[in-house]
Amino acid sequence: MKNRIYLNNDWEFSDEFNEKMLSPKFKGKWESVRIPHSVTETPFNSFDESIYQKISLYRKSFKTETEWAGKRIILTVGAAAHMAEVYLNGEKLAEHKCGYTAFSVDLSDHLAPAGKANILAIKVDSRESLDIPPFGYVIDYMTYGGIYRDVYLDIKNPVYIQDVFVKTSSNHLESEITLEGGDVPEGYTVEQKVVSAASLGGEPSACITTAAAKKILTACDASPVVAWTLENPALYNLVTVLKNEKGKAVDTKTVRFGFRDIRFDETGFYLNNKKIKLRGLNRHQSYPYVGYAMPKNMQTDDADILKYELGLNYVRTSHYPQSHAFIDRCDELGLLVFTEIPGWQHIGGEKWQDQAVENVREMILEYRNHPSIFMWGVRINESQDNDALYTRTNELAHKLDSTRPTGGVRFLQHSHLLEDVYTFNDFVHEGNNRGTRLKKNVTDTKKGYLISEYNGHMYPTKTFDDERHRTEHAIRHANVLDSVAGDDEIAGSSGWCAFDYNTHKDFGSGDRICYHGVMDMFRNPKLAAYVYGIQQDNSVTGDILEITSSMDIGEYPGGTIDGIWILTNADSVKLYTGNTFIREYTSADSPYKNLKKGPIPLFDVIGNRLVDEDGVKPSHSEAIKELLRAAQKYGMEKIPFKYKLKFVKLLLCRAVTFKKLEKFYWKYMGSWGGSQSSHKFEAYKDGKIVKTVIKTPGKKTGIELSTRRTELLEEETYDAVCVNIRAKDEHFNLQPYCQEAVSLSVKGPIAIIGPSVVSLKGGMAGTYVKTLGRAGKAQLVVTDWQGNETYMNFTVKVKKI
Ligand code: GAL
Repeated sequence: MKNRIYLNNDWEFSDEFNEKMLSPKFKGKWESVRIPHSVTETPFNSFDESIYQKISLYRKSFKTETEWAGKRIILTVGAAAHMAEVYLNGEKLAEHKCGYTAFSVDLSDHLAPAGKANILAIKVDSRESLDIPPFGYVIDYMTYGGIYRDVYLDIKNPVYIQDVFVKTSSNHLESEITLEGGDVPEGYTVEQKVVSAASLGGEPSACITTAAAKKILTACDASPVVAWTLENPALYNLVTVLKNEKGKAVDTKTVRFGFRDIRFDETGFYLNNKKIKLRGLNRHQSYPYVGYAMPKNMQTDDADILKYELGLNYVRTSHYPQSHAFIDRCDELGLLVFTEIPGWQHIGGEKWQDQAVENVREMILEYRNHPSIFMWGVRINESQDNDALYTRTNELAHKLDSTRPTGGVRFLQHSHLLEDVYTFNDFVHEGNNRGTRLKKNVTDTKKGYLISEYNGHMYPTKTFDDERHRTEHAIRHANVLDSVAGDDEIAGSSGWCAFDYNTHKDFGSGDRICYHGVMDMFRNPKLAAYVYGIQQDNSVTGDILEITSSMDIGEYPGGTIDGIWILTNADSVKLYTGNTFIREYTSADSPYKNLKKGPIPLFDVIGNRLVDEDGVKPSHSEAIKELLRAAQKYGMEKIPFKYKLKFVKLLLCRAVTFKKLEKFYWKYMGSWGGSQSSHKFEAYKDGKIVKTVIKTPGKKTGIELSTRRTELLEEETYDAVCVNIRAKDEHFNLQPYCQEAVSLSVKGPIAIIGPSVVSLKGGMAGTYVKTLGRAGKAQLVVTDWQGNETYMNFTVKVKKI
């Protein structure tokens, strides 16, 4: 007999609701849907958020199996946004008031007789007028609606293991077992065994406990074990077996966990006593078109992007608990997670606050076995001080989990600190000032201090903004990262934010998008993404070499290019103009002294050419280059006095004449009306070329498709994957101002999520394909504006579980 049955397929759905529909006999028109599901498919942008605010009904029929006799049948709904009522065969059994946490309902006593069909109906209210968090005032993110995480039935014996909470330090393990289902009969025992989830390190000894109580505490020294670290996130399983008086197993629960120790103090954050500077971004769990409704592997892909593409060691799940698939993957990747209760600035009345406290309970009970979670956010994001409420949330958090600190995200300086860590949104950086405030100006606490947000609305940036803007966005992220890296009182930071997101009319750029991400909504990188990527070793992110400019003078006012940066995690970068070697750049050339790999300014595009080609004396070359740079920056006529003086000095020693200087300017600094130079950048790692970028006028533009997975797997439900679409020239340079449309079609057992024509934005777009329950070969065909077809092939596998 199956112990878990997924109920993700074959739901009937209606986004119109009336009471009559709750009757199992109700016929009417239903749409057939699979979960994860969004009540409304939304456009990419420029739509009204009222389109997903409604009352909907989901209905599913399932048979009472004969073998369920005498068992408990427990329904779990992973997430239903935002208020759910559960009906079985017309009878209301439960309601749940949080769109971001799971809930369970015991159906056992209400099932139809064996062999007969049950009608399970879930009424879902996605209106933002609900009196529950996060609602009540404006919110800077869309909240969508629907049943968007797995739904399943667990078949249990009358007494079963409801929960096992594993607490570890480096090699010690304690567990709290909660039994459910009435009095525990005499003679029942519990046995536990720790096994390695991956084949990592030794196997700790088993813990054997004999007890007959509803709560059982176990403890054991487990050694030798491999600690859960960022580099080697070793995972173990604690298998707990409940046995009856005859020694027969009546229930088994396996919980994955890691051995690790976490600590904050005024000197920073420590994982297993090793100080770690947290370097992260905030993640919203939304996607174009389907909002929150994306299956397991899409969640996993996001975690992979954060670790392998953005090189982070930490993510904040702003502003609510997110999918277990996402956090499971963070456990596997060694990506630390700060998760928090739903909410945004607003605190409601008494009932609303009770629900916020309830959300703390649900979040902690549901998520506390994830080793990656290092802190609970128990304040409503950016709310005002409210000692009564936050005393309750902190007390409850500490009671339910003694192993993790609490935080609570605020924008207030010197606010009341009832939490263990002062988590502060520091938006002080405006481009030319310090990246962060000094801790002493924010709080006088001796407790830990973490920056939970920065940048974001201070500098919204679209993939299709001009180059100077996109570059400034990247540099502002570098400025804050450098400031955090250089300040021992700051445990780390998470920037706002990883991905652009759909938002309400009160925020964003007027088209219902907040362009605050270092990636767009399809997870295409902006320049700022590379600033994060290069902070990681190439063994994690691969070799990165990105030049922030296309080196087209016409992109800049007056034809004056300035502020070009090299972003690389290589050892050095050699620049060639044509075939002439100009200079080798290294990290020593970066002004960012606290970052291992700071952006490197491309300050010299002339190298030794004045000497080699123009007969300038080596001793004068650098001074002339400085003059040329100043002329480029300020214009010949507006050149500041100090450069004029330098010029006079050079004139006096006959190093240069005005005419010559002018000639050099047109030759080297690019001229309006002249032909463009070609530049080649070669990145070196351990003496070998690992990456080459060529900036030269391209002759043709085509489509490049990329995807993170070509094998799609149906398990608990359908699978989906993103395909990124980018316009590139023949040198693989992105064409950021190619805004053409492409049309999409599929062959085989997949379907497109969203429209079948999409336009590139900033030279980039994306689409999603999903499986349809059938195995086979499939293909996405992208036809560009020139009539050219590009393909992405997939294999779909279906695993019955
Ligand atoms: C913060 C807020 C975030 C987002 C961000 C934009 O104040 O917590 O949700 O709105 O600003 O920069």
